[in-house]
Amino acid sequence: MRTPVILFVVLGAIGGMITALLIMNARGVFVPPGQQQQTVGQAKIGGPFSLVDHTGKRVTDKDFHGKKMLMYFGFTHCPDICPGSLQVISAALDKLGPSADNVTPVFVTVDPERDTPERLGQYVKSFHPRLIGLTGKKDNVNSVVKDTFRIYAKKVEDPEQDGAYTMDHASIIYLMDENGKFVHYFGHPTSADKLADQLRRYL
Ligand code: NI
Repeated sequence: MRTPVILFVVLGAIGGMITALLIMNARGVFVPPGQQQQTVGQAKIGGPFSLVDHTGKRVTDKDFHGKKMLMYFGFTHCPDICPGSLQVISAALDKLGPSADNVTPVFVTVDPERDTPERLGQYVKSFHPRLIGLTGKKDNVNSVVKDTFRIYAKKVEDPEQDGAYTMDHASIIYLMDENGKFVHYFGHPTSADKLADQLRRYL
């Protein structure tokens, strides 16, 4: 009576192996066994980018290497979510004192059409002296926001006013390491004390 049991186990194992070979990655491409762990599961966040900072200078991801990056994505016309978040981030960095010196706060616009370097320059300095604003050409910024950093952002036209719009966007914070690698994300920041406590573990 052992034979059918063994046969069942062997067939089950073969079935499992075939299933493993057929696991697909997020883009629907078959991934060879052994490379699956890198692509299945958590989507990759971060990578090379080339943008323009709030002084008008072209900067790449490499210009930020050597320090950690605390990134927030939003737009300067945002009525409350973005200003509130940037205030919390700035206050949390101040609370952390010298241990935050190794962190560069970065605000990436999701609205490159309106957020010129000049406008960003005015905006960032009202929050924190070290806050860097990033913008650039529309298509490039959109690709960096959506493809490189996987941030949800969507233009929403105002039906009442011709040409007027707002941006629907995710409110989360990324911590990247000294080599630009993703470390952790924090949900919408609610208080400087809470964010400082969370950040302390990673500094
Ligand atoms: Ni906003």
